Amino acid sequence: MIKTDFLVIGSGIAGLSFAVKAAREFPDRQVTVITKSEMVESNTRYAQGGIAVVTDFLNDNFDKHKADTEMAGDGLCNSEIVDMVVREGPARLEEIVKMGTDFDRTPEGGYHLGLEGAHSARRILHHKDTTGFNIQNSLMKEAGSLPNIEILEYHFAIDIISQHHMGEKVTRKRDDICCYGAYVMDLNSGSIKTFLSKVTILASGGVGQVYKLTTNPVVATGDGIAMAGRAKAAIEHMQFVQFHPTALYGDEEEQAFLISEAVRGFGAVLKTREGELFMEKYDERGSLASRDIVARAIDTEMKARGDEYVHLDCTHLDQQEFSKRFPNIYKKCLSLGIDLSVDRIPVAPAAHYLCGGVKTDANGRSSILNLYCCGEIACTGLHGANRLASNSLLEALVFAHRCFVDLKNNIDQISHQKDVPEWESAGTTEPDEWILIKHNRVELKNIMHNYVSIVRSDERLQRSLNRLEILYRETEKLYKRTTLSPQLCELRNMIYVAYLIVKQSMGQNENRGTFFNVDRVGQQGHGSLEGTDP
Ligand code: SIN
Repeated sequence: MIKTDFLVIGSGIAGLSFAVKAAREFPDRQVTVITKSEMVESNTRYAQGGIAVVTDFLNDNFDKHKADTEMAGDGLCNSEIVDMVVREGPARLEEIVKMGTDFDRTPEGGYHLGLEGAHSARRILHHKDTTGFNIQNSLMKEAGSLPNIEILEYHFAIDIISQHHMGEKVTRKRDDICCYGAYVMDLNSGSIKTFLSKVTILASGGVGQVYKLTTNPVVATGDGIAMAGRAKAAIEHMQFVQFHPTALYGDEEEQAFLISEAVRGFGAVLKTREGELFMEKYDERGSLASRDIVARAIDTEMKARGDEYVHLDCTHLDQQEFSKRFPNIYKKCLSLGIDLSVDRIPVAPAAHYLCGGVKTDANGRSSILNLYCCGEIACTGLHGANRLASNSLLEALVFAHRCFVDLKNNIDQISHQKDVPEWESAGTTEPDEWILIKHNRVELKNIMHNYVSIVRSDERLQRSLNRLEILYRETEKLYKRTTLSPQLCELRNMIYVAYLIVKQSMGQNENRGTFFNVDRVGQQGHGSLEGTDP
C-alpha cells in the first residue's frame, strides 16, 4: 500500500501542470503522477495548432473569444465558464512561458498569432506546428526538477477506490461517494498496487481510440472516464465527439497524422478529388468554418462521390514560408512523396476530441468527493456541443490551476482512508487466447466507425448497441476469470466508453454541434441522459 497526498493520473498538460503547482506549493507533501506509458506519451504531445489566448488587445478581446467559443459550441456552452476560461488564459499562458515554453515570435518581438476555423481574430500562439510537444517538454523538465514529485511510468490505473471496495453499496443516488485513491497495475512487474491518496486528479485524456480512424495516440482509450463511470461519477455530453476534418488519409493504422487546422488558417483550401472547391456550399466561412461543419461537409462530399478522402490544396501558398511555419507537416508529406507545390494532400475526418466527459464544477470537482478532473477527460461546460479549435490546451491549463487553488485551501482537512483492502486477484488464470482481446478491440473500433460516426441514425445507434452488448458480455466473462492485463483493461474501458457515447447519443433529441442524427433533423429539445449505466 502506497500513501501519497496527491495522486495524479495522466501526464499530459493537465496532469503535469497540476502536479507542478501542487509540488511547489507544498514541498513537504508527496505528489505522485502515474501514467500507463512513457511520460511524454499523451494527446498533448500531438497538439499541433496551438493554444488560443487573447494577447493582441488591439485586434482582439475576451468578448470576441467568448463569442467564438459559444458560437462553435452551438448553444450548449456554460457562459460563465467560457467567460472565466478566456479571462484566465493570459495568466496561465505567462506561467508556462516562464517555465520555458517557447512560442514563435514576430520580428518585432510580439507573439506570432495563427488563425484557425471559427476564430474571428488571430489568437493562436504556437511553436511552429509542434506546440503540444514543446509545452509537454517544458512541463516534464519542471516536474522532473521537483523532488516531491514521483513520476511512475508504465503504471496503469485500473479502478478508483471508493466505499464500494469496502463492501458498501454505491449507487448514483448517493451524494457522499468518496475517492480514496486507486488500484494501479505496475506494468513492469504485473502486480497490482494500492495507492491511497488524499485527493486524486484524473487527467488521463480522451477516447479517440474507440474509433477506427483517430488522430489520438494508442493510449487514448478513455480509461479515466470508464473508471469514473464505474465509480458512479456523473458523466455527460458523451454524444459530442469531435471529428477533425483533416487527418492525413491512408497513412498510419493506429493513429492518423494530423494536418493542422492552422494550415487552412494559413490559406490552404479544401477541394474534391476532381479539384472543385466545395466548402462555400455549406458555410460562408468556407474552409475556415467551425470543425463540426467542415467535417460534416467533407463526409457528405465523400459519400456523394464514393470517395474515401478529399484534398487539401496548398499549391498556391508560399512554399518557403509554409515549410518554416509547418516543418513537421511539410516533412511528413515529403516523406510520403507529396510535394506541396504540385500535389494536394489527401485528407479525411478522424475522431479527434471528446467534448463531454466527467462532469465537473468550476473548480474541477467531479460528483465524487476528493476526485478532481481536468483536461480532455473533464466536461467543464467550456466546449458545449463542439470545441473551438485550440481551446483544449487553454482549458487544461485553466482547470489544472483551478483544481490546485481549490485544493490549496482544502488539503489540510482531508486525511487518508483507513482499512482499504488490497486488490483481490485470487482465482484468476492467464488468458489462453490473447487474440480474442485483440479481435474484440478491432471489432469495437469498426462498430463505432460504421454506426456512431459523424452522421448517425436511430437504426445505426440501435445496431451499435446490439453489437456492443455482445462485446460487453464476452469481455466481462474474460475479465472475471483471467489475470488482469493492460490489453484487457483497455478493452473493457473502451467498451464502457463506447456504450456511453451510444446511450447518450440515443438520448440526444436535437442536432447540435458535432452531433448529427438523420432522424432528428428539425427536432427540438434535449432527451434525458438518465439511465446510461450498463
Ligand atoms: C489542429 O492543429 O488542427 C488541432 C488543434 C486542436 O485540436 O485544437
